[in-house]
Amino acid sequence: MHELFRASDPEALLNDVGPRIRGVAGGKVSAKLMDRLPALEIISNSGVGYDSIDVVTAKARNIRVTNTPNVLNDAVAESTIGLMIGLAHRQPQADRFVREGKWGTSQFPHTTELVGKTVGIFGLGRIGKEIANRAQAMKMRVVYFGRNRQPRTPYIYYDNLIDMARDVDWLVVIAPGSASTNRIISREVMEALGPTGMLVNMARGSMVDEEALIDMLSTGRLGGAALDVFQDEPNVPEGLIGLDNVVLSPHVASKTLETRTAMGELMIANLKAHFAGEPLLTPVV
Ligand code: NAP
Ligand code: 8YV
Repeated sequence: MHELFRASDPEALLNDVGPRIRGVAGGKVSAKLMDRLPALEIISNSGVGYDSIDVVTAKARNIRVTNTPNVLNDAVAESTIGLMIGLAHRQPQADRFVREGKWGTSQFPHTTELVGKTVGIFGLGRIGKEIANRAQAMKMRVVYFGRNRQPRTPYIYYDNLIDMARDVDWLVVIAPGSASTNRIISREVMEALGPTGMLVNMARGSMVDEEALIDMLSTGRLGGAALDVFQDEPNVPEGLIGLDNVVLSPHVASKTLETRTAMGELMIANLKAHFAGEPLLTPVV
């Protein structure tokens, strides 16, 4: 096993062992990297989203790709509700208020709550459904947007994202990042969400027009945002860091010990199955 991410000279390591590598565990795999790994048979991703892997090239080269669905649903859903409560109740600000010794000398502002609000879930998939369950426990009304109506779910369906954004108080993004969802949270969507609307992005930074987001948040045309993902991670724009109406999180929604252990085990189980000639547990390609 070779740890490319720890290598002091990744190029030298690739030159040395690249031709013998048969499996990649986790990480970004571009067509360019595949060129360096001519014996590659499988890419076992640690994560359900696989937008960092060129699956079209992998398929064309007969390289299998696996991901880690389901084992992270609860952690990500829990983290989503946590960020929503944090944003509504201004919990990061409350923590700073106490630490900075302001309690007793100045007033903490009134906040808001989730109860009675409508949340629109963009991507009512495996994780989206767990978020919906928990949002209902928060006494919120749940609606959703996706490409398909899901008749077996009890929630109202929107076939148009802007229409849903106009009707909801909270918009939670939890659909895959792809060419078809690139910058789909446009200025128009944010305008529909409006000055009291809250945007929660748990999916991928590529899905949000970040420049428009900063502009809308800083001019009060969007109420607030809770963001676990960003366009150019780990770089977070200064324009967001300076804002008081956002809660920022370093792409850690699945990073509980329990869930990362389960994700790692599934990643390894897929590699073992492949090299034992058995069916893959969670294949993408
Ligand atoms: P999933 O079960 O495949 O659900 C995805 C949902 O998105 C489906 O309901 C799908 O419905 C909808 N969707 C897909 N493409 C769409 C499109 N072009 N337009 C509108 N809706 C679309 O996926 P999941 O397991 O819940 O994971 C969702 C995503 O969450 C992952 O791909 C990943 O990017 C992100 N994620 C982030 C973290 C984190 O740490 N922040 C952790 C885990 C996952 P339709 O097919 O009906 O459109
Ligand atoms: C991981 C994720 O943090 O599963 C996903 O799609 O975004 C997260 O669970 C990421 O894949 C890095 O391991």
